[in-house]
Amino acid sequence: MRSILIAGNWKMNMGPKETADFFAQLDDSAQKNIEGVDAAVCPPFVSLSAAFSARKSGSAVKIGAQNVHFEDNGAYTGEISTSMLNELGCDFVILGHSERREYFGEDDAIINKKVKKALAAGVTPIVCVGEVLAERKENRHFDVVKEQTAGSLAGLSADELKKIVIAYEPVWAIGTGETASPEQAQEMHAFIRKELAAQFGEEAAATVRILYGGSMKPGNADELLKQPDVDGGLIGGASLKPSDFSQLVAIAAAQ
Ligand code: 13P
Repeated sequence: MRSILIAGNWKMNMGPKETADFFAQLDDSAQKNIEGVDAAVCPPFVSLSAAFSARKSGSAVKIGAQNVHFEDNGAYTGEISTSMLNELGCDFVILGHSERREYFGEDDAIINKKVKKALAAGVTPIVCVGEVLAERKENRHFDVVKEQTAGSLAGLSADELKKIVIAYEPVWAIGTGETASPEQAQEMHAFIRKELAAQFGEEAAATVRILYGGSMKPGNADELLKQPDVDGGLIGGASLKPSDFSQLVAIAAAQ
């Protein structure tokens, strides 16, 4: 019922030329319309135009941004608005990534404003949550993720919840090569869905896609995607290589 989403978060990698090269090298099989699978890449802002130009006509790969501001326009040096993303045609925007929380001081209240703004603009937010290693070791991971989820999604209606995507990204698994086990991922995804059901109702909670992120790659994607509450992946490193990204889409298609 929930289609799988394979979304690449390119982070601060891939300028316009590398972005064009990526699309030129991307397998046609990863770009065709696959029933039950969505594929997307989220390049840096300066490479978004190049991505839209380089994407083959008829390609099903969607394009998203990695951040957006919560105001419409004005004196916010260095920021990008939802109307700018709309003008390009962005489908998604990643919000609340742990790197933005850690290095740029974003908290749940800021992320909540951005989520609401993105929803109002018709850009699908991919809202990231996840605990750091110390929190897992202290067995606080469920509390942390519960608080982040509730804070980031505060004030949304059940209909709005249905329009968002959540990404569970344990920070200790990001860029480390260490992945949450399929059981750890499933346990947390089911927990998030249960919390969403309590807040927004069963139907909305059953609709929302929950992606896993943290060293997902062709070698471990299959067992993660087999988990009933894992509805896709938010992929960093492996999404930079056209061959790995194509393989991930193929693994999703085989589920
Ligand atoms: P890696 O896949 O490189 O671990 O990054 C995960 C991530 O942060 C995606 O948003």
